[in-house]
Amino acid sequence: MSFSLLALIVFEGFLILIILAIFPPMFRHAPFIPTTHARVHRMLELTGLKKGELVVDLGAGDGRVLHCAVRHFGAKGVGVEFSPLLAWFGNFWLKIKGLSKDAKIVRGDIFNYDCSKADVITLFLLQTTNKKIKEKLQKELKPGARVVSRIFTFNDWQPMAKDEKYHLSVYKK
Ligand SMILES: C[S@@+](CC[C@H](N)C(=O)[O-])C[C@H]1O[C@@H](n2cnc3c(N)ncnc32)[C@H](O)[C@@H]1O
Repeated sequence: MSFSLLALIVFEGFLILIILAIFPPMFRHAPFIPTTHARVHRMLELTGLKKGELVVDLGAGDGRVLHCAVRHFGAKGVGVEFSPLLAWFGNFWLKIKGLSKDAKIVRGDIFNYDCSKADVITLFLLQTTNKKIKEKLQKELKPGARVVSRIFTFNDWQPMAKDEKYHLSVYKK
């Protein structure tokens, strides 16, 4: 096999992986657009996240929210991610960083995940998705649980805190 044919096969393989990672979620409820580390840290800080609390990231992407929750706040984390590739990569990365005993990504749909054990819910989805998931959160979340959403809001929920710079809103049940 010539080098150029091999390079073409490898390139096409990468292209397929990227398409698999990005496009299925696009037809779900939000595309994969990662949050910067500074914003992730601010999101968690704004919720008043404490050591030992459970963070559930709905639409976890590559799992970066879980990394920050465990490493910087001593919390536990579960991410729910629709894309199998992102879920696999996120769990692989958690393992490499030695965080997999405190955090994992579950491959699945956020609308089927039971959020009743969460102390903090993190979201970066879409306005329409927030609207759809609002009732589920209202029903399942325990008293005192906090929800932090990046950019998109929950209309007619009163935020307990806001960060205008990073476009974050925190709500408390
Ligand atoms: C904007 S990204 C946010 C990723 C990560 N939370 C962050 O802040 O970096 C949204 C993620 O939600 C995932 N997603 C969209 N709809 C979903 C669904 N119904 N169930 C599970 N994950 C979903 C996408 O695959 C994507 O990775």
